[in-house]
Amino acid sequence: MANERRFPPGFLWGTATASYQIEGAWNEDGKGESIWDRFTHNPGHVYRTHTGDVACDHYHRLDEDVALIKELGAQVYSFSISWPRVLPNGTRAGGVNTKGVDFYKRLVAKLVEAGVTPMATLYHWDLPQALQDRGGWANRETVDHFADYVELMYEAIGDRVPFWVSHTEPWVVAWAGNWFGRHGPGLRDFSTAVLVSHHLLLSHGRAIDLLHRSYPKSQMGIKLNTQMTYPASDSEEDRAAAHRDYGWYTRWFMDPLCGRGYPKDMLDWYAAHGVVLPRVTEEDLTVIANGTDFLGHSYYMSHKLRHDPNQGWPLDFETLPMSEYFTEKGWSIWPQGLYDNLIRITADYGRIPIIITENGVAFKDIPTESGEVHDPLRIEFIRQHLAAAHRAIADGVDLRGYIHWSLMDNFEWQDGYSMRFGLTYIDYATQRRFRKDSFAWYRAVVTANDADVRMQ
Ligand code: BGC
Repeated sequence: MANERRFPPGFLWGTATASYQIEGAWNEDGKGESIWDRFTHNPGHVYRTHTGDVACDHYHRLDEDVALIKELGAQVYSFSISWPRVLPNGTRAGGVNTKGVDFYKRLVAKLVEAGVTPMATLYHWDLPQALQDRGGWANRETVDHFADYVELMYEAIGDRVPFWVSHTEPWVVAWAGNWFGRHGPGLRDFSTAVLVSHHLLLSHGRAIDLLHRSYPKSQMGIKLNTQMTYPASDSEEDRAAAHRDYGWYTRWFMDPLCGRGYPKDMLDWYAAHGVVLPRVTEEDLTVIANGTDFLGHSYYMSHKLRHDPNQGWPLDFETLPMSEYFTEKGWSIWPQGLYDNLIRITADYGRIPIIITENGVAFKDIPTESGEVHDPLRIEFIRQHLAAAHRAIADGVDLRGYIHWSLMDNFEWQDGYSMRFGLTYIDYATQRRFRKDSFAWYRAVVTANDADVRMQ
């Protein structure tokens, strides 16, 4: 067994899920409606009108799933909390759903008992519909309601959760939900997306402040889907397009988080293209730069950018794939992008602590008659990405951990159950869990702290 891919001692290995994608029980025990309940229940949004009503039935299978996490050897389990499960109307004044809070208390207690460190994400896209009815994240009041919700969760589980994530991929929340209309709430307005992104960042700052007041030793990060962007050619225009894409996905969030305010080139570009910009005060910027403890890096793909004033208003570029190898989602496979991006972020923002909070792949997994799932492509995908991560550490990136997406197949947003990202295969008809080959391989990696393990 080679050990050239051995990771530093203390490197954190984990796996992740998200509430709407696995819990099910969408209207049980007092849970309120979320924007994803509403979005999926309206036909036409999701592949074959799949919904998260049952999903992986995790709400009823807590024990079995925690046992699975333990068996995987994960040191960290990253899960998200469904806001409408604990506050059905979105606000504390609207009443706390004790049964919902108890569910997360039980989950955390079981994880701790199993020797797994909980990493709790406060928002992975399932906003209470009651708040969307009042404008959702485009309404600044949602930031205050978020702060109340966050405090409730700190009170409930803060003493046992050392790692927190405020938001999963605010870019997706803002633009997939409010500009592309592909995610709940399904809007198509660029200016709304920009406003939403500002409120998300503001709410992140508020959550950090509250956490550090109550639990100064706990750490909070934010997960950004900071893909790598390369120019499609050497032309000045294509290079500017790639920088703009970096501005849209990454600098828009990282600059204010690092106390630099919003990037001026992006503000100017948006304004020149007719985007209405939010009113941002100095105080807002101070709150946003509240001392994020780590950057959560979600890495799935990279892109090439070609300048084209006739496409992609207001950004004026076309996005091209990086390679001819595609995942089931149609995303081109480019592990080098993970390395390049970690190096770029470190060069641009300093040696900040980074955790790869998501990385994974959907392939067509087909179980054998005896319930085995051979997924050598997934193993190769992870191996190559870990190799890139390992090189980045050797070249000076302060990378502290790797969290694989996902523990199990689950509801893949607009693609419903047609995409399987899990280390565990879910037979949705019976809810039986089958360990894929990648499950055993990943366990071996975690145990050896080495990405070069080979299975017999
Ligand atoms: C999201 C997950 C999603 C995964 C694959 C990530 O950006 O956080 O919820 O399942 O991508 O699409």
